[in-house]
Parts: sequence; C-alpha cells; structure tokens
Amino acid sequence: MTHLIDQVAQLVEVKFTGLEGSHDWFHIKRVWQTALCLQTIEGGNADEISLAALLHDYSDHKYNGGDFDAGSREVLNLLNQLNCPFELADRVAKIVQVVSYKGALVSDEATSIEGKIVRDADRLDAIGAIGIARAFSYGGCKERPLYDPSIAPLLHATKEEYAKSKSHTVNHFYEKLLLLKDRMETVTARSLAEERHQFMLQFLAQFEQEWSLNH
Ligand code: NI
Repeated sequence: MTHLIDQVAQLVEVKFTGLEGSHDWFHIKRVWQTALCLQTIEGGNADEISLAALLHDYSDHKYNGGDFDAGSREVLNLLNQLNCPFELADRVAKIVQVVSYKGALVSDEATSIEGKIVRDADRLDAIGAIGIARAFSYGGCKERPLYDPSIAPLLHATKEEYAKSKSHTVNHFYEKLLLLKDRMETVTARSLAEERHQFMLQFLAQFEQEWSLNH
C-alpha cells in the first residue's frame, strides 16, 4: 500500500507543482498532512485518507470547466490503472465526490469518517492566515477585485449558482470561509478551526478600517 501511496503522491506532485498558489502541490501536501494528523486522533483508515487527500483536487470543477463528477471518475480510472484494490478505489472516489464546498445553503453530503477527515482537512486549509492568502491568490488568478463595497455577499442555494459566482474576494469570506468553522465534522478540526476563524475576523475588521479611511 505504501508503494501505491508513493506512486500517487509522485503523480500528484508533478501535476500540481507550479500551479496557482491556492491549489498547488503545497495545498495538497498540507491537506494530506493535516488529514493524517486528524486520523491519529479521530481514527479511520490511514491509507484511504492518504489517497483521498492526495487526490481530492485531481479534477476540480473550478478548473475543469464546471464538471462536478470528473474528479471522482478520473480518480477511479487512475487508481484502477495503478492496480489499487477496487473496493478501496471506489471508497476514495466517493470521498473525492463530496469534499468540495457547494454553497452556503447547500448541505454537505453524508460521508464516512475518512471522508469527514479529508473534508475537514481541506477546509482547515481554507481558513486562517493560509486561507486568507489562498483566497486572494485565487481571486487574483481569476482577476477579481479585492473588494467592492457596492456588491453584497450572497448565500447560494445551489452548487451551480455558487460555481458561477464571480464576486470580489472579501465576499468569499462571507459566502464560504466564515461558515466553515461550523461545518467541521470532527471534534479535532472543530477546535483547530476556532483560532483560524478568529484570525479571519480580525483581518476583516482591520481591512474594513483601512478601507474606510481611504475611500
Ligand atoms: Ni483542496
């Protein structure tokens, strides 16, 4: 199994190295390490968690033209090609299908403990100092303004509506990042999220203060 995980890690490292900073190999590596750290406390199958963490962004709808199912389909094909046992490949592909956030008013799909851990690890990387840096990197890559006070945040009710949204980056905090703390499903991630959440609130308060002095 270690051989399969090494092979997948190498493939993913090649595919993601040098990509835009919000979804590059360092993001995948942080999610992988965080997920394994959560596993030591929360339990679950460590191999399944490693594979799902490494492959969770393999074909992300944000980058593949909006196909929500391509990720799990491509992951299943890849794992089959690498001779991964079918049952494990199927479990990993099912986790990949449910990791991403699909809107403030869209509930998360039910998943296994392994799925909860990978989803929580991905969300921990979306908040706090790193989350702030990633949000502005992603917004920059999509040529979005930092902020536009005339455009209020929206709570999206469908994944299609959420995926289409092209708002400024400060809205992303209200539409997703500040909501993640309460969507953590493991006790460990929930407690790690607290400090990162407070840091984002502090950042937004400071941002607002500086903005209102200058505009
Ligand atoms: Ni991710």
